Amino acid sequence: MSVTQHSTWWKNVVIYQVYPRSFADGNGDGVGDLPGLIARLDYLKALGVGALWLSPVYPSPMCDAGYDICDYTDIDPLFGRLADLDQLISEAHKRGLKLLMDFVPNHTSDQHPWFIESRSSRDNPKRDWYIWRDQPNNWRASIDGGSAWTWDEVSQQYYLHFFLPQQPDLNWHNPQVVEAMHDVLRFWLDRGVDGFRIDVVHCVGKDPTFADDPRCMAGETMVQINDQPYSHEVLRGLRRLVDHYPGDRVLIGEVNIRSTARVAAYYGASDELHMSFNFPPLDAPWDPVVFRLCIREVESCLGQQSAWPTWALSNHDNSRLRSRYGGSLARANAAAVMLLSLRGTPFIFQGDELALEDTQVTAQTRVDPGGRDGSRAPLPWLSQAPHGWSGKAPWLPFPPDAEALAVQTQETASHSTLKLYRRLLHCRRHSAALRLGAWEELPSHPKLLAYRRYCGDDERIVCINFDEAQHTFALAGDWIIEVASDRQGENQLFDGTLGAQKAVIVCRKGTDHEC
Ligand code: GLC
Repeated sequence: MSVTQHSTWWKNVVIYQVYPRSFADGNGDGVGDLPGLIARLDYLKALGVGALWLSPVYPSPMCDAGYDICDYTDIDPLFGRLADLDQLISEAHKRGLKLLMDFVPNHTSDQHPWFIESRSSRDNPKRDWYIWRDQPNNWRASIDGGSAWTWDEVSQQYYLHFFLPQQPDLNWHNPQVVEAMHDVLRFWLDRGVDGFRIDVVHCVGKDPTFADDPRCMAGETMVQINDQPYSHEVLRGLRRLVDHYPGDRVLIGEVNIRSTARVAAYYGASDELHMSFNFPPLDAPWDPVVFRLCIREVESCLGQQSAWPTWALSNHDNSRLRSRYGGSLARANAAAVMLLSLRGTPFIFQGDELALEDTQVTAQTRVDPGGRDGSRAPLPWLSQAPHGWSGKAPWLPFPPDAEALAVQTQETASHSTLKLYRRLLHCRRHSAALRLGAWEELPSHPKLLAYRRYCGDDERIVCINFDEAQHTFALAGDWIIEVASDRQGENQLFDGTLGAQKAVIVCRKGTDHEC
């Protein structure tokens, strides 16, 4: 029957987050760019991912690393030209890779012509495109944690910004804003992009009463708590637009509310997001109890409404998974086995396939006002410094152990995290159980997490040991180790022993597996 044929591409792939500034530098100016990315597409194809999500590459003053956009329909010269983006789409498609852009609907840059007009006078036709008030309330902004309102001397009112003062929030209640932003989506969809990751989509609808929120008194920011019905109406409009295009275009939302139950609501009745990020697993420490709860929560909250889950353990806003799990390579490798064997679409943040740790910044090298530079460091391609970043020194220092973790070093090593990721992705591509199968928890030692994935005759069992001690996980019958996080024992009978911080995927002896 092939479940694959009946399910959309985005359920069958692993998505790779490209942070373009730090991926690959094509012109030697020390900042990654689109030509650099195009030149490395074969690396991503060989890794085995199916789609790329590109963090913003639009013209921007870069107060928030490109999440402050001053033109939604062009490319910042730092990254290249529109023609490079067209080439990226076509080169990605030639290799069977989908391309997702980052869509930032909640706010523009304060240098966007719309805002320049809006702030120019109270009776400007674009005044109402943003949110102006005579009096601020107690809402708190993210990144700097200050007030979400900034006073404008020229027009003598406050404007709202859920992030930096240089990122004024758009007023999605204004139909012209809705239309203008729909045009932005059409612009990129017409050029052939396969969908969007939507930045803080839960923030677009605002409480129309503008009442103080007691949670802001307690230090929370609006981005953590904003959850208004109007955001769902906005999303339904975006979904109608996207569904109108051929080819299964996809909307993946960043719903930054730390509640899986709330996140589930943003799938609507299959008329809002196709998929949403869900952050509790990204916040979780390396602890089987916490992960067990996170996974159960996803299965129960999203399973009930057949909403397809996502899994991400790192991104450009948070410390890398290896750094968060204490720097241990064994843990990072075991986490990869878990990430790539759960039910849902996994996201790999660039460089996690190399087991990179956060870079260390000093007061001199620090760039992000929100202190998020750690995970944003340039990828080391070549073993020798400057690691494939010829020319000017890159915009952030390389992560620790760049020589040992460089792509070139890992490709030639007999065992490496890069090779583990390739193997995991290969096995996932060749197993319907791993891609699309049901998930069932299995009883195990409290320091282990074990689950079964199954789809028709295809079946895999995954077991992760979170402990520093060896444990046993007994299985009836003969099982073969298909993937081991430390490579030990692959293709051999599984004897039930799991070393410290080790994870395995096993299949029944005789399974027709190509790995
Ligand atoms: C999202 C982005 C983050 C950015 C913020 C404002 O959370 O991931 O990098 O600072 O939105 O656009």
